[in-house]
Amino acid sequence: MATIRDATPADAGAIAAVQVASWRAAYRGLLPDEVLAGLSVPGLTQMWTGRFAASPPRSSVVVACAGEAIVGFASGGPPESPDDRADPNLADVYTLYLDPAHWDRGIGAQLHDAVLARLAGHGFTHAGLWVLAGNERALRFYLRNGWTDTGRDPGSTGARRGWSCTSGGCSGTWMPAEALGGRWNLHERHSREHRS
Ligand SMILES: CC(C)(COP(=O)(O)OP(=O)(O)OC[C@H]1O[C@@H](n2cnc3c(N)ncnc32)[C@H](O)[C@@H]1OP(=O)(O)O)[C@@H](O)C(=O)NCCC(=O)NCCS
Repeated sequence: MATIRDATPADAGAIAAVQVASWRAAYRGLLPDEVLAGLSVPGLTQMWTGRFAASPPRSSVVVACAGEAIVGFASGGPPESPDDRADPNLADVYTLYLDPAHWDRGIGAQLHDAVLARLAGHGFTHAGLWVLAGNERALRFYLRNGWTDTGRDPGSTGARRGWSCTSGGCSGTWMPAEALGGRWNLHERHSREHRS
């Protein structure tokens, strides 16, 4: 088991390092090798630093610590899809990533419960999330933890979350589906809903 706490701006670098390690382990074969090779801890550190500075409303980031070391994190807040924002009670779980050396110890479940508790504290009553097609470990995890497969395809919203990756790092932005040119579809096969 790990200790769970709210993240602070000083955690940005450790969160970025976990994210890169987790992506490279979980998304090998699911995303192009050059995307995974191009992930940059400094670039993502900058992205997380910006996120903490912006301090978006009704949003939380939690980290899991083994001793002093951050081994996982989760985040959530208002839905990323503009369409979903019409429901003020609906949140998104944006991220849930563990360092692969710490998978299968129940820490993912701890982070999951903590981020949902934070979202409930922000007044949300239910949540959605997107899972990369083929990420079977995560799909199993979410099904075990009370999520329902709604079968929704994010393409139906007219936008997909695309990622631009350069040697400077990766950043996620919403863009029209056609802007991705079909080269890679990072997301997302299913939407899940969680009601407590
Ligand atoms: C998906 C992910 C967050 C799940 O985290 P996890 O800690 O591995 O998952 P769990 O908490 O469910 O633990 C997995 C198993 O270990 C078991 N376990 C092992 N030791 C345990 C312990 N000490 N206490 C509790 N459970 C333990 C759990 O019971 C569970 O068993 P089960 O599969 O038979 O139910 C993690 O695998 C991960 O980071 N994956 C890569 C990133 C990713 O895909 N994220 C999702 C993006 S949408």
